[in-house]
Amino acid sequence: MKNFFSVNDVPDLKQFVEKAKAVKASPFEDKTLGENKTLGLIFLNPSLRTRLSTQKAGLNLGMQVMVMNMGQEGWALETRDGVAMDGTTVEHIREAAGVIGQYCDVVGFRSFPSLKDREEDYNETLFNKFMEFCAVPLISLESATRHPLQSFADLLTIEEHKTVTKPKVVLSWAPHVKALPQAVPNSFAEWMNRAEKEGMIDFCITHPKGYELADEFTGNSRIIYDQEEAINDADFVYVKNWSSYHDYGKVISTDKNWMIAPDQLSKNTKVMHCLPVRRDVELASAILDGPQSLVQKEAGNRLWAAQTVLKEILTSDS
Ligand code: CP
Repeated sequence: MKNFFSVNDVPDLKQFVEKAKAVKASPFEDKTLGENKTLGLIFLNPSLRTRLSTQKAGLNLGMQVMVMNMGQEGWALETRDGVAMDGTTVEHIREAAGVIGQYCDVVGFRSFPSLKDREEDYNETLFNKFMEFCAVPLISLESATRHPLQSFADLLTIEEHKTVTKPKVVLSWAPHVKALPQAVPNSFAEWMNRAEKEGMIDFCITHPKGYELADEFTGNSRIIYDQEEAINDADFVYVKNWSSYHDYGKVISTDKNWMIAPDQLSKNTKVMHCLPVRRDVELASAILDGPQSLVQKEAGNRLWAAQTVLKEILTSDS
């Protein structure tokens, strides 16, 4: 593995989950693998889980880890080529990424979408430029369109908690107070589609009309506009808000009825959310604090997902 940007970087999904389970069972088995190697974690946007879990993953593998909140502490970045930098931007991404690549053996990079220019966001212009210019293996810590470390941890969580061979997994839109990126649901749909193709799960999506995600992520997934029908007898409900893809970045519904109530859940349904979550807006506190919630387990699994990806990169020849 050279870079980790999407599920397409994973040759064998089932084997990758097994590798994560092995890392979780024996976290310090490879504690010298990353000796004398440096992991740089570069954030243009806020983070709790991604920052700490990936940092700890590097430490468990014996790496030196440097973290930079570039969005707050770095120079204002210019990402466009062919412009005179006579405005507010101070450093071009070409120089910044090139310098970081010289200091690090592996880099993690987080950059959220603008939610203004769909073409630029969905072309992953910023992430691709950073990958090109830093010239060392790059791990996505969430890009404009995907959050693969989250989705890997989610799949691991589902595999650990399933009670049937092929559980029913539902991605459900939830209300929110502001416009959020589509990266988490895109990525979750992409990973779940792959898992469904490999016979691991049965997947469908529910959301109000107008919140259809991009086809490149949802593929042939069933979309059920009636939430109650969709979540009926689900083994896992993955709750997440996102803004509109088609009316790009817009909030087109804030229907509070889409916040799942405890009495809407079958007793065996487990509830997932990537966090951070707005209590009693996206998800009811009674669910979050109850036995059906897997949110803490998912967050815990972020460490094993990151450590598995780092181990794969450190042991890769290419
Ligand atoms: N789920 C997740 O990525 O959390 P952070 O944004 O806090 O890293």
